[in-house]
Amino acid sequence: MLNEATIQTIKSTVPVLEVHGTAITTRFYQLLFTNHPELLNIFNHANQKQGRQQTALANVVYAAALHIDKLESILPVVKGIAHKHRSLGVRAEHYPIVGENLLAAIKDVLGDAATDEIMGAWAEAYGVIADVFINVEAEMYRESEEQAGGWADYRAFRVVRKVRESDVITSFYLVPQDGRALALYQPGQYVSIKVNIPGDSYTHIRQYSLSDAPGQSYYRISVKREDAIGDHPAGKVSVFLHEHIEEGGELLLTAPAGDFVLDTDDARPLVLMSGGVGLTPMISMLNTVTASNPQRQVTFIHAARNGQVHALRDHVEELARLHPQLKVYWCYEQPSQADEAAAAHHHTGFIDRHWLSEVLPGVDAGFYYCGPTPFMKAIHGALLDCGVQEKDIHFEFFGPSQSLA
Ligand code: HEM
Repeated sequence: MLNEATIQTIKSTVPVLEVHGTAITTRFYQLLFTNHPELLNIFNHANQKQGRQQTALANVVYAAALHIDKLESILPVVKGIAHKHRSLGVRAEHYPIVGENLLAAIKDVLGDAATDEIMGAWAEAYGVIADVFINVEAEMYRESEEQAGGWADYRAFRVVRKVRESDVITSFYLVPQDGRALALYQPGQYVSIKVNIPGDSYTHIRQYSLSDAPGQSYYRISVKREDAIGDHPAGKVSVFLHEHIEEGGELLLTAPAGDFVLDTDDARPLVLMSGGVGLTPMISMLNTVTASNPQRQVTFIHAARNGQVHALRDHVEELARLHPQLKVYWCYEQPSQADEAAAAHHHTGFIDRHWLSEVLPGVDAGFYYCGPTPFMKAIHGALLDCGVQEKDIHFEFFGPSQSLA
């Protein structure tokens, strides 16, 4: 454990580092990828370019440093990140590399203000924080290896079915090449997929939610093709999967991970809300709850631009026909003429508090949602305004986590 003087040094320098936050993290990633270009096989280049990841790692190091004398209080945060790390194949030996380059970046940016005493204290603190992550992740690797049908690193899967779900979303049904058992997962969890794109010198890893209930003979992911919009480039991996991975093709997967999971012990009404491809974990939860707990009242709300990009609509409508306890609502931002003619949706425009309060089964329920950031912010604000308690709210970001406040 750190001594009191070190703890004080750390706590008094956190605000200084936060002031230089962007400069330090930018320098950190420059150093990291110059000294260890092999890590570009793990990190998401698109997130790097947009600066979205730039702050997350360092901010958590600072937040952890502030709690250095009671790290157990940030364990839930550590676990969420550790799920992501485990799923990406981050290992104990990577931590000293990150630590060395983060410390070098702090030194570069602070210059003379970074005294030996300060740098020594940060080296010690980083070591303590890294150990917490390493231990939590070691346990997760062990669990996924020991679980029936589980595995620790990448496992080869074959695409046995490829199904177009909408103009932009396609599902891939995946079975292990080794023909052996397939681990159960919790609805809401995701897998990492690693691809080698011909002509590209790096491998690319992306995470996709599993979009069907656990317990099938396959895993299913449903991938949105991210086309280029304005100065936002097309998604390398999603386009590759859509255009080049066919039935019979092979994909490498890590075992399911993630802490955004359905509480199947909760008997209260369940509200599942999604925007766009945020639909995928919600379908897994919906398929699970309707099959295993048909008494539970479910409200399923999905927002899409219009009916053409609305995936799995027939499937959900069929479930609603079979299950009177399931209420379904479609919200189209810009319904097409065909949508209007078919009266294919229930709400036009963005979801707001007023509309939501009319369709929710009350506030004493479990609320789960996933979608683009503006969607998540709107839902989060509306639920709190309606009187829903924070403890009943569960959400997941696709991509780097952000604040909803
Ligand atoms: C993601 C923290 C060490 C690789 C993240 C995220 C945080 C974080 C907060 C974002 C999670 C999210 O968006 O949900 C930390 C902390 C570390 C640490 C506090 C040290 C104590 C490492 C190490 C590696 C690593 C050693 C491996 C070289 C990654 C990768 C991602 C990630 C690849 C996903 C980012 C992307 O590609 O967009 N980490 N991390 N991290 N971390 Fe770490």
